[in-house]
Amino acid sequence: MARAPESVPGPGRVRIAVLVTLCLLPRPGLAEGDPAKGEGVFLNRCSECHATQGDQVKIGPPLTGLFGRTSGSWPGFPYSQAMATAGIVWDAESLAQFLPNPRGFVPQTKMNFNGLKRPGEAEDLIAYLATATAE
Ligand code: HEC
Repeated sequence: MARAPESVPGPGRVRIAVLVTLCLLPRPGLAEGDPAKGEGVFLNRCSECHATQGDQVKIGPPLTGLFGRTSGSWPGFPYSQAMATAGIVWDAESLAQFLPNPRGFVPQTKMNFNGLKRPGEAEDLIAYLATATAE
């Protein structure tokens, strides 16, 4: 009985197996957000209440210079007691906890927003905010 000729010799198979494995591994870049998509999220979900530059107070405080700012510290903004006393320093990590569920992270905040629920949305928005709010 003739065996079918092997089209892929042993070492070739190993190479293919390695390639397949590499393709299945999570790629490092995927965890980081896409600022271009994040801009769209901001315009749809945040911009009616927040500016990213300057000192225009809308329904919410300006996010100008947000990264490194302490929560509740925009001068003269009428924060809730909850936000005024939360003592959070805004950065990628704290925003990643706040934005998907604002009232879960700062109970009794008066920010009237349910949270970003779609996977990747918060990461994209944070990547956008990191540059858009920089002074
Ligand atoms: C309906 C208006 C509204 C929307 C929509 C909204 N916010 Fe807010 N936001 C507020 C208000 C009001 C506060 C102040 C909350 C408080 O005092 O409890 C606030 C507070 C914040 C703070 C804390 C600021 C500080 O000075 O400590 C951040 C950060 C923030 N919002 C980001 C966002 C982002 C990003 C979005 C979009 C995903 C968003 N907000 C959507 C009204 C809004």
